[in-house]
Amino acid sequence: MRSAGTTRHFRADPVPDELLHRVLDNARFAPNGGNRQGWHVIVVTDAGTRRALHDLYQPHWNTYLLERYGLAPGARPSADLPLNLRRSMEFAERLWEVPVHLLVTVDLRALAVTDRSLPRQSIVGGGSIYPFVQNLLLGLRAEGVGAALTTLLIPAEPEVKKLLGIPEEHALAALVAVGYPEGKLPSKLRRKPVEEFANRERFDGPPLSG
Ligand SMILES: Cc1cc2nc3c(=O)[nH]c(=O)nc-3n(C[C@H](O)[C@H](O)[C@H](O)COP(=O)(O)O)c2cc1C
Repeated sequence: MRSAGTTRHFRADPVPDELLHRVLDNARFAPNGGNRQGWHVIVVTDAGTRRALHDLYQPHWNTYLLERYGLAPGARPSADLPLNLRRSMEFAERLWEVPVHLLVTVDLRALAVTDRSLPRQSIVGGGSIYPFVQNLLLGLRAEGVGAALTTLLIPAEPEVKKLLGIPEEHALAALVAVGYPEGKLPSKLRRKPVEEFANRERFDGPPLSG
């Protein structure tokens, strides 16, 4: 959990099917609402399909860059930008080169959306698919394989469905880019300490200390 960070630079070497199978064979034990296991995984290695997915990702990545960072399409990952952003830009430019694209979809009929009646954005439905995706990330990390969880392709869901023959009732949950890393796998992630997000008894109670 402390070292399954996002890999941004990948080698072209293929990832063995046996390894992917092993990771999926463990990931399938993820918790999910009512144990309905609505997940489906498309293992894309075909170069033409990866290029098509890359091309569908780009406009949404460009929109994100503009809205979040004020960067115009075509902006270069120059040295004055924060390192994480630069690495994400380089990743987006080379997404098509990542040897395996795992497309994770979920059958919407299998989701237990217990917050659907609330007058706010629903969050619970995703809880029946993202623990599975997290298991994938942890499993890949344990095998020495890098991964990047992405969701910016999701606005292109209609095009992706057409490209990959995904049935109507399935939603796209993630594109997980998978491959052996260029250089080392991440070893140290930066996250807030427990005291900043865990409190005793009430939201505003005293921080939980160890
Ligand atoms: C729900 C979700 C969606 C994400 N979507 C993208 C994405 O579309 N593109 C991308 O480059 N990274 C994406 N990320 C990766 C995050 O940027 C990354 O987890 C975060 O910056 C922390 O980086 P680290 O894991 O290397 O510490 C996503 C992560 C999550 C959890």
